[in-house]
Amino acid sequence: MNILVTGGAGFIGSHTVVALTEAGFRPIILDDFSNSEKSVLDGLEQITGSKPTTYAENCHNRETLRRIFKEEKIEGVIHFAAFKAVGESMQKPLEYYDNNLGSLIVLLQTMLECGVSNLIFSSSCTVYGEPDELPVTEKTPVKPASSVYGNTKQIGEEILHDTIEAGNALKIISLRYFNPIGAHPSAAIGELPRGVPSNLVPFMIQTAAGLRESLTIFGDDYPTPDGTCIRDYIHVLDLAEAHVAALQFLLKKDVSGYYDIFNVGTGRGASVMELIKSFEQVAGVPLNYKLGPRRSGDVTAVYADVQKCTEQLGWKAKRSMQDALADAWRWQLAITAQR
Ligand code: UFG
Repeated sequence: MNILVTGGAGFIGSHTVVALTEAGFRPIILDDFSNSEKSVLDGLEQITGSKPTTYAENCHNRETLRRIFKEEKIEGVIHFAAFKAVGESMQKPLEYYDNNLGSLIVLLQTMLECGVSNLIFSSSCTVYGEPDELPVTEKTPVKPASSVYGNTKQIGEEILHDTIEAGNALKIISLRYFNPIGAHPSAAIGELPRGVPSNLVPFMIQTAAGLRESLTIFGDDYPTPDGTCIRDYIHVLDLAEAHVAALQFLLKKDVSGYYDIFNVGTGRGASVMELIKSFEQVAGVPLNYKLGPRRSGDVTAVYADVQKCTEQLGWKAKRSMQDALADAWRWQLAITAQR
């Protein structure tokens, strides 16, 4: 069965291409490579044995989508393609709204026109803001977004909800990701941030590899046991497999209109300090880090209640944080050796 993966050359997208292939689907990538490298396709070939069919085009284009839906007989779409830098989104709001929401609207319209009915949308735990209760369930209230990026996810979810409420024949799941980390254990694919990474694990492994001088911990005066922020770090392959579980669930669902939301995390919160200590242990190298001020926009703690996806999708994270850190480190060593 042919599944279109927009943004399929990105970090979560490429690992989902692997998971889809392993589950017997035929993923077709649509990616304009604006924030990914063509070398990802070689890595995918190394893992799966063949290069996935790839359209190196922008998914905001109606004609492109029409052509792919027709040529490839697409039966479902996993929509990753979006801009995702929180800081940048505040500088370029119109680009973010246009790209992230414009492409979603064109995608929905073209799916309806071409009779493609199954869609999985990348959402984020950012919609919960600073939550009043932990762990967060899908019923935990959504808070006003603190970034344009976060707002594109909230509005994206509303667009999907309203599309189904209006009686359109689509089946849609939004997956609210917590913090994906790690890489494929083969080290053939992983995260490839451009420039200075803003996320914790990419910065950490680049520091350990000697590419950055030191990691700054953004604040140790939070009301948590060790004073550093708490997040739910999930192995990217577990997250990838959640997409396959969600897709299989949608394909079995015998209704014409459906929309629901699922948290995808491990259910366990870990602090920045805990992550650093675990990394030093699994990598066997000391990490040069220092304490710095809080980063604006960071929430104190957020981690998932995963009961809904466990019960309904039959999916649960299998890999540990240590597995993820070891895989991320192996990936960093592999790309450092190549360059
Ligand atoms: N952190 C540091 N030092 C760094 C980088 C991060 O201490 O150099 C800390 C942050 O303060 C935070 C934790 O590590 O406490 C995780 O930070 P990340 O940037 O890795 O992840 P975030 O939780 O901030 O970001 C995630 C997703 C975003 C999403 C955001 C919403 O990566 O896509 O959650 O909160 F928008």
